[in-house]
Amino acid sequence: MDEFVRGLPKAELHLHIEGTLEPEMAFALAERNDVTLPYRSVEELRAAYDFTDLQSFLDVYYATAVVLQTEADFYDLTFAYLQRAAADGVRRAEIFFDPQTHTARGVPFEVVLTGITEAMADGRERLGVSSGLILCFLRHLPPEEAMATFEEALPYRDRLLGVGLDSSEVGNPPELFVDVYDRARAEGLHLVAHAGEEGPADYVRQALDLLGVERIDHGVRAEDDPPLVSRLAREGIPLTMCPLSNLRLRVFDRLEDHNLARLMEAGVKVTINSDDPAFFGGYVGTNYVETAAALGLTRADLTRLARNSLEATFLPADEKEALVAELDAYAGADAP
Ligand code: ADE
Ligand code: ZN
Repeated sequence: MDEFVRGLPKAELHLHIEGTLEPEMAFALAERNDVTLPYRSVEELRAAYDFTDLQSFLDVYYATAVVLQTEADFYDLTFAYLQRAAADGVRRAEIFFDPQTHTARGVPFEVVLTGITEAMADGRERLGVSSGLILCFLRHLPPEEAMATFEEALPYRDRLLGVGLDSSEVGNPPELFVDVYDRARAEGLHLVAHAGEEGPADYVRQALDLLGVERIDHGVRAEDDPPLVSRLAREGIPLTMCPLSNLRLRVFDRLEDHNLARLMEAGVKVTINSDDPAFFGGYVGTNYVETAAALGLTRADLTRLARNSLEATFLPADEKEALVAELDAYAGADAP
């Protein structure tokens, strides 16, 4: 199963670049930049990965991001991720970044963007992984700050694929961010948002109806609202699900309880992604393998999930079709 999964051409659509910071790299960058982490060793940092909910993770995630300071840091982080993604059969990655986490510390927006996008260009050329970049607004901060960040990003609009919304969900509903999503839509950017991870199904509705998003990041709680599930299926709205993240943040007690297979069965265009793989115990291939083992997914199910991921990308139709054809050739060759 492992080899089959890693050979499946797939897209990763829910991946926070800051969430790919491995403890070893965090300490190496801390030394390179002469900054002190609030942990004494790689082991102590790993020990802090015993999360109880989303916020307990975000506290560690923001604390480690302080080591990211220079263009080279963002380049190294991004290229390391793309190498791991390539090894997992990822042919297209639509990557999130959180500029506010960095600009608030005095790291210029351009430094963050240049480091990431140069690695993306090299990833395309040297690893054969095509990629796009999605700017996420931190929802625990005021909507005015999201708007200021958007304005700071506008001169670089051509380097962005879309915008998203992340960070602490409960109490920070999508409706607060209508204005900045309206601006992003007017700029022709793609729109996504985290919704229904810990927050209620109503946040998924708000993201669709008020923000006009094209994909929902997570969306597990949509299951509480059967008419909403029917709508997701009918309208072909993809969910970028992250099973190991949900397990580690205790959205589900056991991977066996995850609702991914039920939602797929209900006709929802479900995809598997890694979210913050350095923190949650596995990159995208491991998410496929462990989810398959826990939920009894077949090779046909995994092929469907990979196909969903390619179809849910924001690639032009011809590039999408080329990747789906590659998937068909691979899965067809595997058929008995
Ligand atoms: N930022 C990074 N990972 C996140 C997640 N799973 N939910 C919300 N914000 C995040
Ligand atoms: Zn996420």
